[in-house]
Amino acid sequence: MKSLRLVASAALFVLGSGAAFADACLATYTETVEPIVARKCAACHNDASPGAGVSFQKGSGYANLVNVASEELPEMMRVTPGDAEQSYLAHKILATHETVGGFGDKMPPSGSLRDSEVEAIVGWINGCTVEE
Ligand code: HEC
Repeated sequence: MKSLRLVASAALFVLGSGAAFADACLATYTETVEPIVARKCAACHNDASPGAGVSFQKGSGYANLVNVASEELPEMMRVTPGDAEQSYLAHKILATHETVGGFGDKMPPSGSLRDSEVEAIVGWINGCTVEE
């Protein structure tokens, strides 16, 4: 009986911290990343016409990114929380996508993100970790 209770509370802990982590990740996305991608990426990546299957339209981006497999490199997530190295989105904006087996243009294809915008996106990915 005692061990059952332990298992139950461990499960609750895992569920609880998962939710907290998702909320923190989403809050930072909405605050710092969404304004950038809505402005610079959503013209080609929106709900009506999701380039490479991804929409950066306000309200849609997060669900299209976090723990969703990339279309061009299905073995890598678009965003792996806490790990930009394992996030295809980061590789596409850093132009390192071909070194990990991806293809196509760097993003955005023309024009560019400011260094501070690249840092905001990569920093968001790396900062999405479970708080111990
Ligand atoms: C001019 C249109 C255009 C703009 C602007 C644009 N993209 Fe793209 N994007 C594409 C196209 C077309 C593809 C698929 C072909 C390729 O990768 O070159 C793509 C592919 C991608 C992929 C790969 C998705 C997957 O699952 O494999 C990511 C990630 C991406 N874009 C992110 C961005 C980000 C972030 C921005 C803004 C900084 C952006 N794109 C701006 C047209 C665009």
